[in-house]
Formats: sequence, C-alpha cells, structure tokens
Amino acid sequence: MKRRDLLTGLAVSVLAVGCGQGVPARPQGRAARYGKPVALPAPAIDGPVSLEQAIERRRSRRSFLPDPLPVAAIGQLLWAGQGITSADGKRTAPSAGALYPLELYVVTSTDVMHYLPQGHRAEIRPGTGVRPALQAAALGQAPVGAAPGIIVVAAVPARTQAKYGTRAGAFVELEAGHAAQNILLTAAARGLAAVPVGSFDQAQAAAALALPAGQTVLYLIPVGLAST
Ligand SMILES: Cc1cc2nc3c(=O)[nH]c(=O)nc-3n(C[C@H](O)[C@H](O)[C@H](O)COP(=O)(O)O)c2cc1C
Repeated sequence: MKRRDLLTGLAVSVLAVGCGQGVPARPQGRAARYGKPVALPAPAIDGPVSLEQAIERRRSRRSFLPDPLPVAAIGQLLWAGQGITSADGKRTAPSAGALYPLELYVVTSTDVMHYLPQGHRAEIRPGTGVRPALQAAALGQAPVGAAPGIIVVAAVPARTQAKYGTRAGAFVELEAGHAAQNILLTAAARGLAAVPVGSFDQAQAAAALALPAGQTVLYLIPVGLAST
C-alpha cells in the first residue's frame, strides 16, 4: 500500500464534527465556540525514518494535494508540538520555567481545532471562513489558502511574563521555534509537505482565529499530503 493510501486510510471523521459558517465577528465564550473535546488517536512513538533522516529530509514544501489531512496525522503533528510526555505534565518541546505559554490550533477548510495537551484531545468549532482570512493576514500567500491543514502556533505571553518579565517575549518566541521544528520534522518523517510561515499580520491573524484577548499568533505551518 502506498504511503498516501496508508495515511488516508487512517482518516477518522473527527473533523466532520463541525460544518463551518465563517469567522465570528469577535471572540465569544469558549463553551459557545467549541464543541465537547474529542480524543485524538494515540501518537506513535516510533516512525518510518530515523531522526537523522527526518532532519536530512526536512525542506519547506508549499504544494499540497487537496485531500483532507487524516486525523491520525493531525494528532501526531500536534503531539510533536505540545504533547505531554511525562507524568508531571512536561511536554515534547521545552518551556522556560515549564510554564507552557503555547496554544496550538489546526485550521482546515471547514473547522478550527484547538489542541488540549491534557489527555491528547481537541475541541473543534466550525470555521469555513478562517482559512481564507488567515491567507489574507499572510499577505495572500498561496500555501496558507491551499493547505488542507494550517497548524497555528499561538501563545499567551502572560503565562511566561509573570516569572520572566522583559525576557518573556523572547522566551515565548524561542518556544514557538522549538514546537515548530518538532512539527516540521514530524511532517518530514511522515512524508507530509509543510512550510513555516512567519510573514503575516499578527492582529489580523488573531482576529481571523477569533483568539481570546491576550493570545497572539507566532507561526503558521501549512501542512498536507505532498503533491509530488
Ligand atoms: C522565521 C521564518 C519565517 C518564514 N516565513 C515564511 C513565509 O512567510 N513564507 C514562506 O513561504 N516561507 C517562509 N519561511 C520558510 C523559508 O523561506 C525557508 O525556510 C527557507 O527558504 C529555507 O528553505 P528550507 O526551509 O527548505 O530549508 C520562513 C522560515 C522561517 C525560519
């Protein structure tokens, strides 16, 4: 069986939970916006290639098949970014003071999924208009409008500011880099196309996602099945 068939075969209909009706005008209460959390498939802790091969293969790839991302792949990427890997709550990516300011989202053509590291779950809300709004925020960049999934690395800097004051901004951005690299290497290891996108208007991106006040967008990672 080809790798693409394998991935597609793993697809579960979690993403079909919502059928979006566009971006809310402004953030509403969490319960009003997101559905009940759903469990993601357990992440694999081995893979098809070695870490060294994944590092060697990683390349920014901007062309995607239109096929939806299988939920197993989404779960694997989110786990790589912020999954909990120890009994005391520590995660796949390091965090200054273990304060964990990052929040991960996945935007699809129809929904917005918010990752809940506790229990490796996600809460999902409809959002048909979010992907084009994110593309507009990213200066119209084509991969943002075309990727079947855009992983959004967002942050609540106040979580880190309480302890680290003026260093917090840098720390939070460094952490976003750690999480993003884990995600990019996981994509490379699993034959997925992905590209880190840093050129976007932060206020516009936060509005597109209807993020709560105090939460900011640091990175967009369009990802999908590779088209070549
Ligand atoms: C902080 C940062 C921001 C980036 N922003 C964008 C972007 O907005 N759009 C894009 O297509 N690529 C973006 N890239 C990807 C770079 O263009 C890419 O990493 C570079 O050309 C090297 O190629 P490689 O990633 O294949 O090694 C960004 C990379 C980094 C590290």
